[in-house]
Amino acid sequence: MSDEQTGGKSHMADAAIRIEGLRKTYRGGKGQPEKQALKGIDLTVPRGSVFGLLGPNGAGKSTLINILAGLVVKSSGQVSIWGFDQDQYPRQSRAAIGVMPQELNLDPFFTPRGALEVQAGLYGVPKSERRSDEILELVGLSDKAEAYARTLSGGMRRRLLLAKALVHHPKVLVLDEPTAGVDIELRQMLWTNVRKLNEQGMTIILTTHYLEEAQEMCDEIAIINHGEKVAQDSTANLLGRMDSRTMVILPDNPIADLPSAAGVEAALRDDGNLVLTYRSTQTSAEQVLEAVRQADIRIRDVRTEEADLEDVFLALTSSQVDAPVDDQDQPRRGIHRVKL
Ligand SMILES: Nc1ncnc2c1ncn2[C@@H]1O[C@H](COP(=O)(O)OP(=O)(O)O)[C@@H](O)[C@H]1O
Ligand SMILES: [Mg+2]
Repeated sequence: MSDEQTGGKSHMADAAIRIEGLRKTYRGGKGQPEKQALKGIDLTVPRGSVFGLLGPNGAGKSTLINILAGLVVKSSGQVSIWGFDQDQYPRQSRAAIGVMPQELNLDPFFTPRGALEVQAGLYGVPKSERRSDEILELVGLSDKAEAYARTLSGGMRRRLLLAKALVHHPKVLVLDEPTAGVDIELRQMLWTNVRKLNEQGMTIILTTHYLEEAQEMCDEIAIINHGEKVAQDSTANLLGRMDSRTMVILPDNPIADLPSAAGVEAALRDDGNLVLTYRSTQTSAEQVLEAVRQADIRIRDVRTEEADLEDVFLALTSSQVDAPVDDQDQPRRGIHRVKL
């Protein structure tokens, strides 16, 4: 065993990924200002987990992923992959990770099998250990093994990108927005494979801007926004912290009195809708509806409002989330509509 390997292994004990103080500033140019895409991120991804990196467009997810993949050079900070510091042990850290990028960057002149062979060559996988056919089978591309990449549909190209990320049997598989704009079949293929690979021991990191997706797939979630980490916790704990609910009722009769009940905020919107916010851990939907009946309000329609990530950030970062809505001009401000 070489010194390099021993050195790496001496601190391999714990995490799949460890990131400390990671910063990235993209240089400006052609009239563009510089951009601080990552502003000092600390992040630890446990081994064996399905880990979600959640954040809206522009949050810095791909920048972080591409730094892990060695495709973007960080400005400062430390990154280690499977215990190997990226700067000290570039080869080992790269070998430990496979990345399915967000962008479809395929050489149009390769067939899927050819692309996998080239990728395996790049990673120094010996011929005897190559499993191109098995991987093509896994991603459902067996019958396209000899088709040129340029003739593949968008969905098939994504499958091929996943296949390429797997050729060197990485410890950590990273999927950058794998389901953005894909059809249901491909989405199911991805999730089936993610679960299967995770059961076989692979650590999975996926980025998404869909809360539901992170919630469905991940054991642990980190949320980033504007290049900063807003929260990191087990999915269960995170959801527990986001127990706010909003019920919107279209009344069938003029409202004389707003419903009142402990733990329920009621406000009437300009559009005539009655907006009720409450915490699901303290108040049940039934109690909210009972308060509405008590106020002699008949319900023509009722719905809950969709969560969006901004609301989640508000819920996680603002100490004022429980403040009553007092600004009638902007009745939706301060209402967090986290529906989980
Ligand atoms: N090559 C680049 N040059 C300059 N700015 C970039 C570059 N890549 C990304 N950015 C900017 O960095 C920020 C983070 O982008 P990105 O990491 O792609 O976010 P996400 O993947 O979460 O949508 C965005 O403001 C984006 O415009
Ligand atoms: Mg991205």
